[in-house]
Amino acid sequence: MPATTPPPDHLRQEVQNVLIGETEIAERVRELAAEIERDYADKDLLMVALLTGTVPFLADLMRHITLPLRLDFMGVSSYGDGTAPGELVFTKDLRLEARNRDVLLVDDILDTGQTLHAVLGKLIDLQPRSLKACVLLEKTSRRQEKVTANYVGFEVPDEFVVGYGLDYAERYRNLPFIGVLKPEVYS
Ligand code: PRP
Repeated sequence: MPATTPPPDHLRQEVQNVLIGETEIAERVRELAAEIERDYADKDLLMVALLTGTVPFLADLMRHITLPLRLDFMGVSSYGDGTAPGELVFTKDLRLEARNRDVLLVDDILDTGQTLHAVLGKLIDLQPRSLKACVLLEKTSRRQEKVTANYVGFEVPDEFVVGYGLDYAERYRNLPFIGVLKPEVYS
C-alpha cells in the first residue's frame, strides 16, 4: 500500500487523506492547458464552465492558455442528498453566442455522467462548430450515462472527494488540494 498523505492539522477530523496535492494538480492543469492550446490554435474557442465547483480549476486552467478565448458560465445543480445524484436543475443560461464557435465545456468532475450528458445535449442544440468536454476528475466506475470527456485530469476512485472546488453540503470548496472526506462526515 502506498503511503497516504495526511491533511493539514485543522482538517484531520473531517478529511481522511490528501488524494491529489497542490503541486500534482498544478502540473496536470498545465499539461491540460498545453493540450488545449495545441488543439484550439486557429479556432474560435468559447469556454463554457459549469457553476459552481469548476471555479478554481477554471481559473488555473485558463491562465495557462495563451490563445484568444471567450468565457461563459452555465448554472446547473444536481439536488441530491449530498452523496447521490438527484434531479438536475438549470440555474443559469449562456449569455454568449455558441453557434459556429468551438465550445469547450469545463467541469470539475464527471461522475454518473448525468450532468455532462444533459449539458452537452443543451449545447449541441445551439449548433456550435465543435463541442468537446474537459474535466479535472472522473470516476469511471460510477458512470450511468454514455458520455466521455475529451480532456481528463485524473481518474479517481469511488470515494467522496472534496476540495479544489468540490464540495460536500457546499463546504470544502476552498481546500487547495483534493482530499477524501471521512465517511462519518457524510453518513
Ligand atoms: C457536481 C459536479 C458535476 C456533477 C458531476 O455538481 O460539479 O457538475 O456533480 O456529477 P454527475 O456526473 O453524477 O452528474 P453539483 O450538482 O454538485 O454542483 P456544484 O458544481 O455546484 O457542486
